[in-house]
Amino acid sequence: MKKSGLKRVGILTGGGDCPGLNAVIRSIAKPAMTYFGATVVGIVDGFEGLVEGRMRELAPKDVGGIVNVGGTILGTSNKGNPFMFPVETPKGIEVLDYSSHAIHNYKDWHLDALIAIGGDGTMHIVDKFADMGLHFVGVPKTIDNDLSATDVTFGYDSALTVATEAIDRLHTTASAHHRVMVVEVMGRYAGWIALGSGVAGGADVILIPEIPFHWDRVFEHVLLRSKRGSRFSIICVAEGAKPADGEVVVKETDKKRTDPIRLGGIGELVGARIQEATGLETRVVVLGHVLRGGSPSPYDRILATKYGSMALQIASEGKWGYMVSLRGNEVTAVPVKEAILKLRTVPLDSQLILSARAVGTTFGD
Ligand code: F6P
Repeated sequence: MKKSGLKRVGILTGGGDCPGLNAVIRSIAKPAMTYFGATVVGIVDGFEGLVEGRMRELAPKDVGGIVNVGGTILGTSNKGNPFMFPVETPKGIEVLDYSSHAIHNYKDWHLDALIAIGGDGTMHIVDKFADMGLHFVGVPKTIDNDLSATDVTFGYDSALTVATEAIDRLHTTASAHHRVMVVEVMGRYAGWIALGSGVAGGADVILIPEIPFHWDRVFEHVLLRSKRGSRFSIICVAEGAKPADGEVVVKETDKKRTDPIRLGGIGELVGARIQEATGLETRVVVLGHVLRGGSPSPYDRILATKYGSMALQIASEGKWGYMVSLRGNEVTAVPVKEAILKLRTVPLDSQLILSARAVGTTFGD
């Protein structure tokens, strides 16, 4: 058994779930138990559980047979930022700094390291705790693929696979009925899912947050296709897409969430406006959380396995405040501060946008 100084390793999953979380948990826990003889502590429901002291020691059987299982065996939450913790009071919901509760529980459970698997919100928290001297390491997760300092987050490939298959299925029914099909996918601030699945699925129009669209351009493109004899069109819309003369469509505002704004509804709006302006029969499908469910793709299982074992390795080297990251084909570690400088949105001159334009796809600009 190797010596690492890691006797008790904590793991938590924060923010929205995505396929591959369990594969990361497994690839941290197995080597921690086998090679370092460490006890692995699972924090239940992300940072909410850390603040509330909900944790349990994991046994080898807990982390076996989960590489292909979606969701997270630990549970997660997007409402538990310890520095902005929502508390029900007689005055309503108050957002308070409960980081001292989290630190107390971290110490109470004698953690030598805490590996937090999450997206942008989680990495901000990792950074703050690492600056306060706690032994935090980050693993980048999100179907949105919008974290900086890594080429890709795990979960994205699985979401892309589901979205592409959905577009393929919509293609056949759109063609049979000569309809316009609008498919809304997740992606709040970055259009990676819409762009990737739109290109892979051969969408005619792709609308992403990075390129505000003009209604007329969208109508013209659909009508032109119809006049040329293509009797159907596929429109792939990111939930965060917005018209140049308008705003994003907000479904709900919830003060308890780390990001209080929940998007959704742009697909319905696009569908209604297209049908009204072109007279073409239109249907709308919202993929939403379907994109986050189910088994991780083989790519995500492999990436998650590399990420988890590297996260444990950097923890054993005492690299606190670091996040594992994919650079080319290699998994490495970068300061988490690099990952939270700004969101990784789609560059307007990206090869994928240029290639999509080359095959006749419009972005409505
Ligand atoms: O960040 C991941 C994500 O799936 C976004 O694409 C989406 O806007 C959001 O989470 C949905 O959050 P919730 O699960 O709270 O509805």
